[in-house]
Amino acid sequence: MMLAFVLTASLALIASVSGSVVPRNNRSSSSRVLILGGGIAGVIAARTLHENGIDNFLIIEARDELGGRMKSHTFAGYTIELGANWIQGTQTGTGPANPIFELALKHNVTTESNNFVGSLTTFDVTGEVDYLDVFNDSVDAYTALTVTAGARVNGSLVDLTSKTGYALNGARPRDAHEMASEYYQFDWEYAQKPDQTSWIASSWANNFTYNVDQGGFSEDDFFAIDQRGFKALIQLEAQEFLKSEQVLLSSTVKTISYSGGGVQVTMTGGETIEGDYALCTFSLGVLQDDDVTFKPSLPAYKMEAIQSMTMATYTKIFLKFPEKFWFDTEFALYADPTRGTYPVWQSLDHPDFFPGSGLIFATVTGDWSLRIEALSDDQVQGEVLEVLQKMYPNITIPEPTDFLFPRWNSDPLYRGSYSNWPPSFFSQHHDNLRSNVDRLYFAGEATSQKYFGFLHGAYFEGLIVATIMAECIKSDGCVALQHVEEVRNAFPYEI
Ligand SMILES: Cc1cc2nc3c(=O)[nH]c(=O)nc-3n(C[C@H](O)[C@H](O)[C@H](O)COP(=O)(O)OP(=O)(O)OC[C@H]3O[C@@H](n4cnc5c(N)ncnc54)[C@H](O)[C@@H]3O)c2cc1C
Ligand SMILES: *[C@@H]1O[C@H](CO)[C@@H](O)[C@H](O)[C@H]1NC(C)=O
Ligand SMILES: *[C@@H]1O[C@H](CO)[C@@H](O)[C@H](O)[C@H]1NC(C)=O
Ligand SMILES: *[C@@H]1O[C@H](CO)[C@@H](O)[C@H](O)[C@H]1NC(C)=O
Ligand SMILES: *[C@@H]1O[C@H](CO)[C@@H](O)[C@H](O)[C@H]1NC(C)=O
Ligand SMILES: *[C@@H]1O[C@H](CO)[C@@H](O)[C@H](O)[C@H]1NC(C)=O
Ligand SMILES: *[C@@H]1O[C@H](CO)[C@@H](O)[C@H](O)[C@H]1NC(C)=O
Repeated sequence: MMLAFVLTASLALIASVSGSVVPRNNRSSSSRVLILGGGIAGVIAARTLHENGIDNFLIIEARDELGGRMKSHTFAGYTIELGANWIQGTQTGTGPANPIFELALKHNVTTESNNFVGSLTTFDVTGEVDYLDVFNDSVDAYTALTVTAGARVNGSLVDLTSKTGYALNGARPRDAHEMASEYYQFDWEYAQKPDQTSWIASSWANNFTYNVDQGGFSEDDFFAIDQRGFKALIQLEAQEFLKSEQVLLSSTVKTISYSGGGVQVTMTGGETIEGDYALCTFSLGVLQDDDVTFKPSLPAYKMEAIQSMTMATYTKIFLKFPEKFWFDTEFALYADPTRGTYPVWQSLDHPDFFPGSGLIFATVTGDWSLRIEALSDDQVQGEVLEVLQKMYPNITIPEPTDFLFPRWNSDPLYRGSYSNWPPSFFSQHHDNLRSNVDRLYFAGEATSQKYFGFLHGAYFEGLIVATIMAECIKSDGCVALQHVEEVRNAFPYEI
């Protein structure tokens, strides 16, 4: 089932590429491929080359382990996930399976079902208040948003913001309960606000992941609690095929020089590594920043695409208390008059996760994430405790014994958490984001049209782009992935 699905996807892609041809490769089987980045996309690309009989590749990774944004950390004696944490969509019957779900099963990575809508306690500035009726309306409003997005696609109507979509459907949050409920459906997934997000593309990402009628996997979310870390699934997969000489860890790329003849990367230490081809899997945030220099500069159409897609930020803030004093549900929603103020709370001290741990975490996104990255840990801890105090007015909130949050946006290896598709971004921009320049190819969560932002998006991109590269290396010529030189208005903007 899985195989058929992937083949179809990759064939469709090969069929859709444009005519421009990368110069013929005449080094065939000895061709060397540099895989830049050892996250999901990089490891799956390496596996794909290996399965195609190409073993002359080298994964170059800045960190001292594989996994990328599957990044675990020991906090108060427990392994917690700073980055990806859920398998989003699993499998329905014998339908298409999320490949991350399959890897978790294969490598026995422990996950627990997590109930996003059915295990929630609601709060506002006055304490615990039941507004689940408002919350339920927001669930329906989100479904309506994806349905009306589909009608726009079908009618060839222009994309607009998700905010516009909501408003046209009659969902216009005004009070704190309505705003927090909408946040939970929307920002908590896309890490950006509805007005910063494409109505059509966000609905695609949702449908292709969760909506079985639309080719999605299932509506389930599985939360990784494996004490080896969620990353174990990709590290164990890598162990099955990867030889130590095929990986270079703790090595940061500074410059990528590319041409029709090959690719050369220069490391921060000055060392140079040559390849006939390279696959860059660095995050969109890294491509947007100046941490890595391309020589020559990437073409204008590519730069426009890179700077037009959004690198969003999603931040989990972990606290350890001497003992649990909070809700028994899996989640809580806090409605503050200022939208996005520490709204989502997730209990880890729960029978299904880490009972008796005293662990809880809050999630913030978008501008709020950027805001707190610029504050000190103590300032953020103070704000978080103030919110807990509002949620529980009748108890004195104890001091946490441990406190931690990652600064994804400040991290030069990521510059954010995952990509989000803004309303000003066209499908042609996306082709340009994904297209190769000469012998330099690109893959990662951001290059996935169907599943941008997700682990499975990174997986499929590693698979599909490496399949194209393998075809190219093994055959006489390489067909370039399509791009357009200029993304133009169908109708001119006029005054
Ligand atoms: C906080 C957070 C929560 C998330 N939650 C989920 C979730 O629950 N479910 C889900 O499906 N997805 C989730 N995601 C998204 C998911 O983690 C990503 O889509 C996926 O891991 C991206 O994989 P990748 O291979 O494309 O990129 P990466 O994992 O970023 O791999 C790229 C690699 O390149 C390396 N690198 C960068 N710059 C350099 C350099 N100059 N030199 C050498 N190496 C370099 C990096 O260290 C990294 O290992 C989350 C992400 C974050 C950050
Ligand atoms: C390919 O072959 C041509 C002619 O045989 C040669 O000039 C060129 O240098 C070769 N290219 C590579 C990348 O080996
Ligand atoms: C899978 O993991 C569970 C606990 O996480 C363990 O009890 C079980 O023995 C493991 N099974 C295999 C086949 O490794
Ligand atoms: C807090 O205490 C007040 C006064 O005793 C009571 O009216 C209120 O219901 C309590 N609030 C909560 C959230 O328990
Ligand atoms: C909200 O929806 C859930 C089902 O998801 C239902 O069990 C619950 O009764 C609803 N609550 C309200 C107040 O409508
Ligand atoms: C999403 O799925 C719904 C329900 O199946 C469908 O009506 C809609 O057209 C889909 N939206 C998009 C953008 O494909
Ligand atoms: C799609 O558009 C066509 C006309 O362009 C219309 O006949 C059809 O009903 C539409 N389908 C949906 C699901 O909206």
